[in-house]
Parts: sequence; structure tokens; C-alpha cells
Amino acid sequence: EKAGHKHFMAKEIAEQPIVLADALKAYSSNDAKGIALPSGTIDFTKCDRITMVACGTANLACQVAKYWFEQIAGLPVDVDIASEFRYRKPVVSDKSYALFVSQSGETADTLAALRYAKERAAMILSVVNVPESSIARESDLALPIMAGVEVGVASTKAFTCQLLALAALALKAGHQRGHISDAEMAKHMDDLNLLPGILNQSLSLEKAIERIAGKIASAQDVLFLGRGSMFPLALEGALKLKEISYIHAEGYASGELKHGPIALIDKTVPVVVMAPTDELFDKTVSNMQEVMARGGKVVLITDAEGAKEASDGVWQTIVMPTISPFLAPILYAVPAQLLAYHTAVAKGTDVDQPRNLAKSVTVE
Ligand code: M6R
Repeated sequence: EKAGHKHFMAKEIAEQPIVLADALKAYSSNDAKGIALPSGTIDFTKCDRITMVACGTANLACQVAKYWFEQIAGLPVDVDIASEFRYRKPVVSDKSYALFVSQSGETADTLAALRYAKERAAMILSVVNVPESSIARESDLALPIMAGVEVGVASTKAFTCQLLALAALALKAGHQRGHISDAEMAKHMDDLNLLPGILNQSLSLEKAIERIAGKIASAQDVLFLGRGSMFPLALEGALKLKEISYIHAEGYASGELKHGPIALIDKTVPVVVMAPTDELFDKTVSNMQEVMARGGKVVLITDAEGAKEASDGVWQTIVMPTISPFLAPILYAVPAQLLAYHTAVAKGTDVDQPRNLAKSVTVE
């Protein structure tokens, strides 16, 4: 049932091009020029804000979605951790939609947060992998991510499928609210249609990433840096690494480096920089140079153009396929997953069942 892979996590990483293609089909309109939701309809012109709540990796998917909704749809988004949201007495207006993201649909804090919002928000949306779950059942509209069963405790394909569903929602919202034209929408759809193939290409970097993971396995601490929608990916890279390899890892917004974490940098600390060429690339590169000037060992994850421009003095470079900046967070999940996976394998930890963790956290 691991389909020839050593671990469920490896199988689930490898499945991503296929499940993403299925999910994309489910979210595409018949003429493939726009988004059609697989279940029900939403009118994003009727809300003035979206409150997104989730835990762990699902929360990081929400953090990416915040960049998307604000940029593509001009809609303000709050992102919260469910265990904080549920007890903080947050202000939820009746003009806002509340959106809950959960692979299992059974996470206790997320479900409690949903019940709190139900009394207050105009609509309860959820993005779930398990359609018959409690969170799906208690939502006004549950959107499936179509990842299939995810066994590995470390979420991989569910994360990229959550991102795909959230990207589709952001595009739908942008189009409904007149922020993107028909032509812009069609261009985004073309980009989306290229995504499964590009993701597949990125899987061929596995051997190169495995070699780098072998070198990272002896580290005590690893930092991940990213800017813009790559910031949540830096957080995800760090979360994945710590949960399965037990190496201490932190994700930071590149611009925060000078505000504290740069004090940690020395030659023993690998720093993974996630930097596709986009409008923020040069800024991220200058943060990366500050790391190198202090002896930090940089693993740069970028595309061919970025590698040409910035790989001087870099310890290791992972050259990703080129992708539209909007979809980069989905693609850059792959090297983050592979790096964590192979580091854990090199350390000999229990990849699919890491210590102290449960697949679904159904108690507080
Ligand atoms: O089932 P959920 O998506 O609600 O689970 C949320 C988190 O527990 C989950 O994403 C967790 O952080 C993963 N182990 C991360 O890999």
C-alpha cells in the first residue's frame, strides 16, 4: 500500500502531481477559463473580510492564502491559530466569512473555533480532506481538497491540495469582486494547468535534495527564510523538518533576520532560503548575503534565473523549475518536504509516525 515507497510520506509526496491535477479539474469551469467550485456557490461580493482559522500546516496554508486574497481580491484576511482564536473572544463581524482549513476535519481546536464563529460570521466555509468530517458537516459550505487518504503524520499532499483549493477561492473572489478581468483569470487558469507538470519536474530533484539532506542531518539548528508568500513556506519547511527529523528549526520572514535571529548565525547553522525570482527576490538575496557574511551556510532554493544571479558563495543551490510567482508557494512546498524527509531518513527516525505526534489532534 506504500506503492513501492519506503514510507507513506514518500508516496504522498510523489502523488502530488496526480492529486493536484484531479483537484484542479474539480475546481475548473467546463470551458477551463475560470473557477467553478465542486460543491455549492459563494458570493464574495457579500463579505468585507475573511477570518481563516486552522492549526499546524493547515494554518500555514491559510497564511499563504492571506497573501493571495489580499493581492488578487482586495479582501482583508485575518489568520488565526485555532487554539488562540477560540479563547480570545475575537471580534467576528456579521459581514465576514469564516474559513476553517483542516485535513482531518476533526481537529478539536479548529472545530471549537468554528462553533464560536458560527454564532457570528455571515458564512462558515471549510476546506477539508475528509468530506464526512465534523468540520465539513458543521459548515455552510465544505470545499474538498481531494488529496485522498493521507497516512503520514507529516502533512504533504494535503498541504499542496489545501493551497490549490485556496488559490481557486482567491481567484474566484478576485473575479467576482472585479479585481481581475476575464483575461487575467484565463491567464491564471493557464498557469494552474501547467502546475501538475511543473511539480512533477521538481520531483526529479529528489536525488540532489537527498545529498543536501545528508549534510544537514548533523546540524543542531536550521533556519528557513522567505519573503512575501514564501514566508509561510519558510515556516512550513521548518515545521516539517522539526516534526520528523527532531532537528530544531525556525522559519522567519527574511526581513526579520536583523531583528534577532541573525545572532544565531555561524558556520554550524544551515540557512535555507526560499527565493523564486519575483519582485522581492533582490531583497531576499541581500538578507542571504548578510547570512553568508557571518559564515552561515546557505541552501538557496530558487529557479534558473535566480541561481544565475545569486548563487555565488552559496553552500548548496537547489534549482527549481520556473513558475508564475502566484503559484510558487505550491511548488516550493516540494523541496521543503523532500529536505525534511531525507534528513529524517538519514537520521533514521520514524518518518511516518514521529514521536509524540498524532495524525489528528482530537483533544486540546
Ligand atoms: O487535520 P488538520 O489539518 O486539522 O491538522 C492540523 C495539524 O495538526 C497538522 O497540520 C499538523 O501540523 C501536521 N502534523 C503537520 O505536518
